[in-house]
Amino acid sequence: MRTLDFDDPFADDGLTSPESFSSLGRPVPRITIQAFCDTPEVAGALDMAASDRRMARAHTKVHTGGISAAIDFYQSAPTPNLIIVESRLVKNELIARLDELAEVCDSGTKVLVIGHSNDVVTYRELLKRGVSEYLIAPVDVMAVIAAIADIYNDDGQSKLGQVFAFVGAKGGVGSSTVAHNVAWSMSRVFGSDVIIADLDLAFGTVGLDFNQDPPQGMADAVFGSDRLDEVLLDRLLTKCEEHLSILAAPAMLDKTYDFEEEAFDHVLDILQSNVPAVVLDIPHIWTSWARKMLLAADDVIVTATPDLANLRNAKNLIDLLKQARPNDAPPKLVLNKVGIPRQPEIKVDDFGAALQTAPTAVIPFDPLLFGTAANNGQMIAEASAKSAINDTFVDIAQIVTGRTEQKHGKKGGLSFAPLLEKLSAMQKSGKKTKPKRAA
Ligand SMILES: Nc1ncnc2c1ncn2[C@@H]1O[C@H](COP(=O)(O)OP(=O)(O)OP(=O)(O)O)[C@@H](O)[C@H]1O
Ligand SMILES: [Mg+2]
Repeated sequence: MRTLDFDDPFADDGLTSPESFSSLGRPVPRITIQAFCDTPEVAGALDMAASDRRMARAHTKVHTGGISAAIDFYQSAPTPNLIIVESRLVKNELIARLDELAEVCDSGTKVLVIGHSNDVVTYRELLKRGVSEYLIAPVDVMAVIAAIADIYNDDGQSKLGQVFAFVGAKGGVGSSTVAHNVAWSMSRVFGSDVIIADLDLAFGTVGLDFNQDPPQGMADAVFGSDRLDEVLLDRLLTKCEEHLSILAAPAMLDKTYDFEEEAFDHVLDILQSNVPAVVLDIPHIWTSWARKMLLAADDVIVTATPDLANLRNAKNLIDLLKQARPNDAPPKLVLNKVGIPRQPEIKVDDFGAALQTAPTAVIPFDPLLFGTAANNGQMIAEASAKSAINDTFVDIAQIVTGRTEQKHGKKGGLSFAPLLEKLSAMQKSGKKTKPKRAA
């Protein structure tokens, strides 16, 4: 890989060889990567990178056709966590095409550009537009891996994974069922990796719901928390789908589970750094650690059924979360088991009005469908592909992740963190900036 020969302000570390890359040797997390190459040389290098052990957790696809193919492709397909585009275009044309690409990108997608132009103005323009990294062709295989790892491992950056905490307003309302089906929809529809962590160690159902009985899982993660790293996590996870793994609860009563407030902190840290989406299945209890997990999540989804006790509990939960997290999105409300025959219930509108929270989703009571799925260890979509309830789970997945399944017209646009902001934040905090690939 060549280096830019202009006087780059961030080049003070003197990057000259791949060995000096900060992330060399660090694994790339469980992200989805799609590359669109313009030349066989770069495609070859990316293919080699994809088969390297450091990229083993990531799902990488290398396409040809460059930036035009990427723009066409994402008109109708969800964007992955990272798009790599190679382009031989120069400055203005390249920037114009990248702006078109931004139009069809989902929020949260990052972009790495491999260009053929060794030009400081282009470089700065790309960074200003939020491109995460710019490499110059021909690229070195290890340099590409290090660049990707850097994008996701930079200290001071927000963690890779979004955390979605699902909790019931009362026991047995269907919170776990909703959590598992939404997680399944996220992984299927967006093709992006999801881990479900079952925090209900004594009675959790994630293993049953996915028809798995793993010998290891959440208990090993939390009791061996001081040794937990990405390698141990790999061993504790059970893969259920190409993009879905579970950290299952033992669901054994041989011991009690009286955890300290910070018991799950490290497990959550490791999960968040390794996967784009973490779904926490939180039992209906009120302990210091359960409250901490709810407060720590990016989004909280409260499932309730439409009766008075649920209303009171949901109100308490939602009020507490809104008050404790004034700068976060308010918790989402899912009303479940609506329409149980002969059972008096609070009307959906009244329930929402009392909580000042319109339900994100309303799921009907359907004992045959839910009972069949639960007893067979299936998701609702597997038990009945045609059920309209599947669309509801996809809707919840879209709303909480801010992603769309199939885009027609404009998408949310790129929201990747601009490298310049990252660097200036690091400079402000007095940290030494890292060597940049293009510098
Ligand atoms: N919409 C529905 N219609 C009918 N049955 C449902 C529905 N949603 C969930 N169920 C059933 O309700 C039961 C309880 O569901 P689940 O275990 O998901 O609840 P939970 O809130 O996680 O309970 P816990 O408090 O034990 O954690 C399960 O048997 C599930 O199949
Ligand atoms: Mg549950």
